Parts: sequence; C-alpha cells; structure tokens
Amino acid sequence: MPRIRPDVAAIGPYVPGRSIEEVAADIGMAPGEIVKLASNESPDGPFPGVVEAATKALAETSRYPDDDLRALTAALSGFLGVRGDHLWFGSGSVGLIGHIASAVGGPGTSAVYAWPSFIMYRIATRLAMSEAVEVPLDDDHTHDLQGIRAALRPDTTVVYLCNPNNPTGTVVNGEEVSAFVDSVPEQTLVVIDEAYHDYVTEPRYATAIPEALRRPNVLVLRTFSKIFALAGHRVGYAVGIPETILELRKAQPPFTVGQVAQAAATASLRDRGELDRRRKANAAARHQLQAVLADRSLPHTDSQANFVYFELAAGAEEASGLFTQRGVIVRPMSGGWLRVTVGSLEENRRFLEALDQILTL
Ligand SMILES: Cc1ncc(COP(=O)(O)O)c(C=O)c1O
Repeated sequence: MPRIRPDVAAIGPYVPGRSIEEVAADIGMAPGEIVKLASNESPDGPFPGVVEAATKALAETSRYPDDDLRALTAALSGFLGVRGDHLWFGSGSVGLIGHIASAVGGPGTSAVYAWPSFIMYRIATRLAMSEAVEVPLDDDHTHDLQGIRAALRPDTTVVYLCNPNNPTGTVVNGEEVSAFVDSVPEQTLVVIDEAYHDYVTEPRYATAIPEALRRPNVLVLRTFSKIFALAGHRVGYAVGIPETILELRKAQPPFTVGQVAQAAATASLRDRGELDRRRKANAAARHQLQAVLADRSLPHTDSQANFVYFELAAGAEEASGLFTQRGVIVRPMSGGWLRVTVGSLEENRRFLEALDQILTL
C-alpha cells in the first residue's frame, strides 16, 4: 500500500447516488423498470441540436481542446450578458470548487459553510488542508447568515453559500445575499453556488452575478449538469472579476473541458424557449410532489430546486431501502430526511406510488 497523507486517508469517499444497474441486480428487476431520482439529474435529454453538435466535435478529439473555450465563452457571454473575461470554465462546478479550495486553502486557513449542504465543500476543504467550519442550517432548513457571519475568523479564506441549498432546496433572498457579501471582509472569497438557479420560482430570490461583477472577492458558480441536462459532459463555470479568476486559474490544470463537452454546452444555449419549458415543467412537478407530501402530513421544505426534501419517521437509511425495494432510488440524508429528484411524470408517479405503499406498512 503506498503511503497516503493521513488527512486524506481520513476522508470518507464521495458516495454517489446508487446506479440503476447496481439496484436492478440487487432486487432482480430489469434496469428499464428502475427509476433513479437520487442525483438531481434532468429527466429530459440534452437540448435540441446538442447531440448533433457533440457528435461533430468527436472528429476533432485527436487534438487538445481550445483551452480558452472561445466558442463557449462567446455563447455564454451573450446568454448571460457578461463580458467573456468574467467567465471561468471547469470540469463541472465540482472541479472549480476543488481548484478554488486549493488556491485559497492550505494549513492555517479555514473555510465556512452551512450544514447540511453540498458535501464537496467539506471534501475540497479537507483536501486543501484547510479547516472546515460548518454552521447548522436554521430551524427552517435555511442558511443562518448571521451564524455564518459570526463563524468567519481572521484565517477564513473562503465561505460557500449554496443558493438554492442542496439538499434542502431552500433559498436566501437577493437582498440578504447582498447584505451578507457587504459584511464579509474583502480578503475572504465568497463563493455563491447557483447550480440550481434555473429552477427557482421564488420572486425574492436573485442571482448574485451582479455582486460577482463588482467585487473581487465574490464568485458565482453555475453548471450545465442540471437544467441543461449535460451532467455526463462535466461542464461548470464561474462568474467573477478577471483578476481574481486569473489567480484562481493557476490551481487548474490545462484542458479540463474537452471539445465534445464544449460543443454540447455551446449548442445548449441556443434555445431559450426550451429552457423556459423545462423550468415550468419542473416547477409544476415539484409543486405536485410537495402537495402530496403536505397532504400526507410529511415534513418537507419549500424547495426551489429540481428536488424535494422530506422526512419519514422510519429513518433515512431504512426508508431509502424501502424505496429501493420498489425500484425507486432516492437519496438518504441525515436523520429521517430524504431527497428525491423531480423526475418525469411517470417517474414521479412511481415515487408517489412507492411512498404510499411505504406509509401503509
Ligand atoms: C450545489 C451543487 N453544486 C455543484 C454541483 C455539481 O455540479 P457539476 O456537475 O457541475 O460538477 C452539484 C451537483 O449535484 C450541486 O448539488
């Protein structure tokens, strides 16, 4: 066994949602009958024209990809209405989180974030040899911004704000985010992870991109993995001030987004109507799932994302096992809380059918 850094050896490995094949083999069902609602993926395929664009790019893969991602930068710059030098791309937003953590971390530093929240903040912080300071969500499963502000220390180099928060789906409204970034010392980077931005319907929510365009210590993260349905291509991006991006980019190896992924992401940005259609379909299905949870008197949050967070008395691990036995993969979280992704109409029906069977056990 090679010698591994003891602090790395102590990290629990990232546990992805269980795969369809694994569950199918376990319970003796055909893979086609299994419904996977554990990883917040899109129930729809890529946007129209994306497969064709990606297929064409396959012919170019004997060469390294464009490390300046010129076509994607131009397309996204137009889509967001921000200059190209405000954009930084990576292998998924998790790739960027890792580079950020190593660029600002190291012994003698700390990172602050809410808990429960996206597990990669914890893993990236530990890998960067930085101390993780976790601030519990409040009783409404929402970020406790005062608590987070109070937890900042002179050695805090980064604070992560997940908005909407994974796994709870709760949001912090735009004014609160602005007041929060105002209160953070300028040597501390504020990373606002908006992976689920496109699903939000709460009118008081606002993107933090305007903050990221005027403050060197604010960065907004987004991804093509969710509403754009490109999770397998691994494309995420950050919006920030060019000088900050230039420094953070030093922690990133070259060529982290291949040309097939670049072509797929670029083509995804052409169809605003499709984006809107998907946003509305998700909101309607999420509303329906939450209405059933309310009807069954099950505690749940007001999720603004493409998943729903709810509690079952059985306990999360046991309850998720009961769903799996019925061919429905959901994600157990802590206590009795579970997270289920908003799927297609048929997938949601299967989830609700399994839920009702479990409630009558
Ligand atoms: C809050 C949050 N940020 C980032 C990601 C990762 O996105 P990507 O696929 O771009 O790495 C996820 C994925 O589930 C997430 O929940």
